[in-house]
Amino acid sequence: FHLDIDASETDKGIYPYYMLKEIDEQPVVMRRLMERYFDANGQALVGKAILDEMRAADQIYIIAAGTSYHAGLAGARMFEQWAQKPTQVYLSSEFAYEQPLLVEKPFFIFLSQSGETADSREVLQNINQAGYHSLTLTNVEKSTLWREATYALPLLAGPEIAVASTKAYVAQVTLQAILAYALVDSQVANLDLQDELSEITVGIQGIIDDKETFQAVADELLVPETTHSAFYIGRGVDSTVALEAALKLKEISYVQAEGFAAGELKHGTLALIEEETPVMALITQPKTAGLVRGNLSETTARGSHAFTIVTKALAQDGDGYVLPDTNPLLAPLLSVIPAQLLAYYTSLGRGLDVDRPRNLAKSVTVQ
Ligand code: G6P
Repeated sequence: FHLDIDASETDKGIYPYYMLKEIDEQPVVMRRLMERYFDANGQALVGKAILDEMRAADQIYIIAAGTSYHAGLAGARMFEQWAQKPTQVYLSSEFAYEQPLLVEKPFFIFLSQSGETADSREVLQNINQAGYHSLTLTNVEKSTLWREATYALPLLAGPEIAVASTKAYVAQVTLQAILAYALVDSQVANLDLQDELSEITVGIQGIIDDKETFQAVADELLVPETTHSAFYIGRGVDSTVALEAALKLKEISYVQAEGFAAGELKHGTLALIEEETPVMALITQPKTAGLVRGNLSETTARGSHAFTIVTKALAQDGDGYVLPDTNPLLAPLLSVIPAQLLAYYTSLGRGLDVDRPRNLAKSVTVQ
């Protein structure tokens, strides 16, 4: 009997599934990114040419699919709110075949774990033909999107093998934060990003150390015999984590899950709430916390089984899980972890193949 504690990058080691190993690796990925992308004075190191092009652009277009698209939705807020750079996020499968009207000086950022997603490659080919410049953030150096973009930066997440993406999302959000921060005069930003990311890393580790909590929550909230649908809600950047959280849950547990902006609940989804329907609320944004609680209570009034994931400063009695406080735009790095663990344990509890969900592929090379 041999326990390989030091699981190598592509070996499951002691883990039953790659997904759990990859969730556990997230603090290491964060540290690796900080080592690579900050100098000794806490200044971001991403390359002058890239920053000059981003500064000169009228607008940034983020192009991605799946989980990477959700990471882009979170990143866009940092480019807009920290760097004051208008930013739009597009699904590559849409942009490729119905290109929106572009600004005069666009700059493109491709987000892709694999660097091979066919729809994203199609977009890159089109914009290369038009002579526009781009930056790819990918986990796979020398991949197609790496080679064909004007610039490329590595996500440094290490091989991601589970179909459900976890550490690549965290790496994408972190690297976008570093890019957005590099665009701003740090005094204006009033933020020490390196410091904040270090604290977040400790916070992520804390959530991972609590993983058994989520096994218990999954068993109670997402009951194998009876739960067939579930909802994640949030406002602001939390609404983008709601999308990612729902994707995680549906792709590996086959629970029909929907994530959306909490204010939209009353425009349709409320009709689906029944006794014991799980509704998970992400509450990390001081500006809208009260509104999200109001939306959640509309569901509990209809019998939903509510579970809140909330930052400490906004926590109240009865909350489900309390996250450490952080800069609101960086909250996705923390709030996504409970969602990953809930999806993992729901899949496990249903006896499914966590790493290889039916009908899905890790890298989608067809259009
Ligand atoms: C597939 C994977 C997802 C991934 C998406 C985009 O659907 O299963 O985990 O988010 O492709 O892939 P990319 O490699 O471009 O990030």
